Amino acid sequence: IEAFFADGPLKGRHAIVTSGPTHEPIDPVRYLANRSSGKQGHAIAAALAALGARVTLVSGPVNVPDPAGVNVVRVDTAREMRDAVQAALPADIAVCAAAVADWRVEEAGQKIKKDGSGQPPALRLTENPDILAEISAPGPQRPKLVIGFAAETEKLAEHAAAKRARKGCDWLVANDVGGTGIMGGDENEILLLTESGTEAWDKMDKTALAQKLAARIGEFFA
Ligand code: CTP
Ligand code: CA
Repeated sequence: IEAFFADGPLKGRHAIVTSGPTHEPIDPVRYLANRSSGKQGHAIAAALAALGARVTLVSGPVNVPDPAGVNVVRVDTAREMRDAVQAALPADIAVCAAAVADWRVEEAGQKIKKDGSGQPPALRLTENPDILAEISAPGPQRPKLVIGFAAETEKLAEHAAAKRARKGCDWLVANDVGGTGIMGGDENEILLLTESGTEAWDKMDKTALAQKLAARIGEFFA
């Protein structure tokens, strides 16, 4: 099966990529979710595979096709995503591009019915595991390079720097989702925060951005 993988700077490396949203059931017919097409995460998985990496793509529910040459693990909820990421370890690289729902409904039981009172039901929420923070934590299984994403609607550079420190990841890809066209669109404009500072990348196609990021990852392992 090795011969299937492209020769390249990431040959012999294992990368785990998370992508898409998670769906958190409210009841059997409803869910909470984030907006995410999975385009950026899937493009990164494909770009890493093209550089020779063995890629495990852990994807929430999306409508984009599976990238060729990538092992795709499909999940619905944040807890399933966390378990799939843990099961895929060890890895050299982790890229957490998924838009994980921060909260889930504490107890999702039978279908919630309107009770005729006109009063909406109260949903009791509880926090989901933070997959990026968990994989970034020091330990024998920690990938050498962990990359997080940050979607912000204001104070991009400031929030991104704080998020990188809080999560403990090595690099952080920050994008401003306040405008129109990024979420679900084909283009992205980002800041890349690394150990050596912050770079503003020109607006580009999500595929081009994925290739540029993969190339940088290749250089890191060179
Ligand atoms: N992330 C994760 N698991 C979560 C929440 C987020 O792995 N439960 C990851 C995302 O995949 C992304 C990064 O953490 O790589 C940042 O996600 P974001 O939602 O921007 O950050 P939060 O820490 O959830 O902060 P907030 O939503 O409050 O800004
Ligand atoms: Ca969040």
